[in-house]
Amino acid sequence: MSDTITIHPMTMNDYEEAMALWRRTEGMGLRPADAPEHIARFLERNPGLSFVARDGETLVGTVLCGHDGRRGYLHHLAVERAYRRQGIGQALVEEVLEALRAIGINKCHLFVIKENRAAIDFWQHIGWEWRQDIVIMSHYTGALETPSSENRS
Ligand SMILES: CC(C)(COP(=O)(O)OP(=O)(O)OC[C@H]1O[C@@H](n2cnc3c(N)ncnc32)[C@H](O)[C@@H]1OP(=O)(O)O)[C@@H](O)C(=O)NCCC(=O)NCCS
Repeated sequence: MSDTITIHPMTMNDYEEAMALWRRTEGMGLRPADAPEHIARFLERNPGLSFVARDGETLVGTVLCGHDGRRGYLHHLAVERAYRRQGIGQALVEEVLEALRAIGINKCHLFVIKENRAAIDFWQHIGWEWRQDIVIMSHYTGALETPSSENRS
């Protein structure tokens, strides 16, 4: 990874740039839960677990992580296309795992859209296990607008 790349805990000051990156990143499912007030609540509930990578001033990568007291849940790992294959994605994931370790969380899960084969290959390459024994089931509570065309995330 180039010396000009730095990794920082994410704050709401990063939100606009992060959202712009998410919007132009393939495989990133954005939902009403990604609106600023919800990301602000997520960051507040999970301090020090989400990170951004910057090249100088420019945001080039993100990762979000939260935990429920037992397990970590990682979301929105994205690296700007021109910056991929330089170790930034893996460095962001390592920051998350280190931060979880520091608060005693021993395991982290993540969700990948099945068609996102490149991401699955990446996760397996860096040592994550593809769980074939688990199915995710979801239900809306009605607290937020329900995306009409999708039933995911
Ligand atoms: C997945 C993603 C974050 C990887 O970021 P990255 O910065 O390019 O990854 P890194 O450079 O840190 O890669 C770490 C290792 O994984 C390998 N790798 C990266 N992408 C890979 C891929 N698609 N398939 C197989 N291996 C891959 C790298 O070669 C490197 O291996 P090495 O250390 O043996 O050389 C990036 O491709 C991305 O933003 N994709 C679109 C968004 C997305 O799908 N996110 C995941 C949602 S679950």
